[in-house]
Amino acid sequence: NPIRVAILGATGAVGTELLELLQSRNFPLAELKLLASPRSAGRTLSFQGEELLVEPVSEKSFENIDVVLASAGGSTSKAWAAKAVESGAAVIDNSSAFRMNPEVPLVIPEVNPDAAAMHQGIIANPNCTTILMAVAVWPLHQVQPVQRIVAATYQSASGAGMRAMEELKTQAQAILHGETPITESFPYPLAFNLFPHNTPLNEQGYCEEEMKMVNETRKIFNVPQLRVSATCVRVPVLRAHSEAINLEFAQPMSVATAREVLANAPGVRLVEDWQANYFPMPIDASGRDEVLVGRIRQDLSHPCGLELWLCGDQIRKGAALNAVQIAELLVARNLLRPATTTMAH
Ligand code: A2P
Repeated sequence: NPIRVAILGATGAVGTELLELLQSRNFPLAELKLLASPRSAGRTLSFQGEELLVEPVSEKSFENIDVVLASAGGSTSKAWAAKAVESGAAVIDNSSAFRMNPEVPLVIPEVNPDAAAMHQGIIANPNCTTILMAVAVWPLHQVQPVQRIVAATYQSASGAGMRAMEELKTQAQAILHGETPITESFPYPLAFNLFPHNTPLNEQGYCEEEMKMVNETRKIFNVPQLRVSATCVRVPVLRAHSEAINLEFAQPMSVATAREVLANAPGVRLVEDWQANYFPMPIDASGRDEVLVGRIRQDLSHPCGLELWLCGDQIRKGAALNAVQIAELLVARNLLRPATTTMAH
């Protein structure tokens, strides 16, 4: 049956990508409602040749809606998710608000699709860097369990939203004109610069983004003690993240095996031309569905270690695409409504 969908945060970077994906993937839509803040009241967005009106989200927004694709930030999700679920909708939430809630599945369809079955109305879309890493590491983990992951990320402006992407361009122009760049979305200039991810730090010195990679990977892989450490850095790239990943296995995994596994892994594209020194780059990953993986090498410092490099579109597989894939999974497995209803007695 065709599905009635609402996009909460339709005017944002992820929201507009959700619109594009619902069109290009021929999602079985019965109805599409575009929701944003009161700031966007009266705006229209084009969808399948029509101009759809953006509505400010309200108590009535979720009536007769089957799926809410939410990408309007954590506080907006916290404010509206329960209301949407009460109205009978399944909420696929892009924010970090519910990801670590044990009753909320945290799903990457290529990795842990079965986890979706236990949802109670909300399904969380993981953090973007975590999704890209997990898509590449999971297939290797199936061949030989990963013992330890050490990641360094090179993250694009898009993770901070559409205004941040505009700010990067404006900053670059300002600098090229000899002017002082304006910083609003970011704490420091990003153009011609980079800085450690600016989310709050814990007492051990890790920022929230780094801890998301630790905790979310453990939950998605269902390995609560998995050893993960990350250094997250924002770089002046528009919309694709890159990651250098070191993996340690219990037994050696050959480069040839890893390459073969990744060449056949869902959602992965192996990009390696050793002759030309050509490997994944953000400009090649931008606008693509797959995570580009390459530079698979033996870790020179450890017999059971592998090094790899990946790039993936932060807005697409890191957010909007993964959310639409979750919606498609719920439809295919008939999971739009929570499977178990708690009886009152
Ligand atoms: P709006 O454009 O009306 O501000 P991004 O991540 O690119 O910054 O986008 C954030 C999205 O979340 C936008 O669509 C934005 O709408 C929406 N949003 C932000 N705050 C709220 C809110 N309080 N209620 C509803 N939508 C919100």
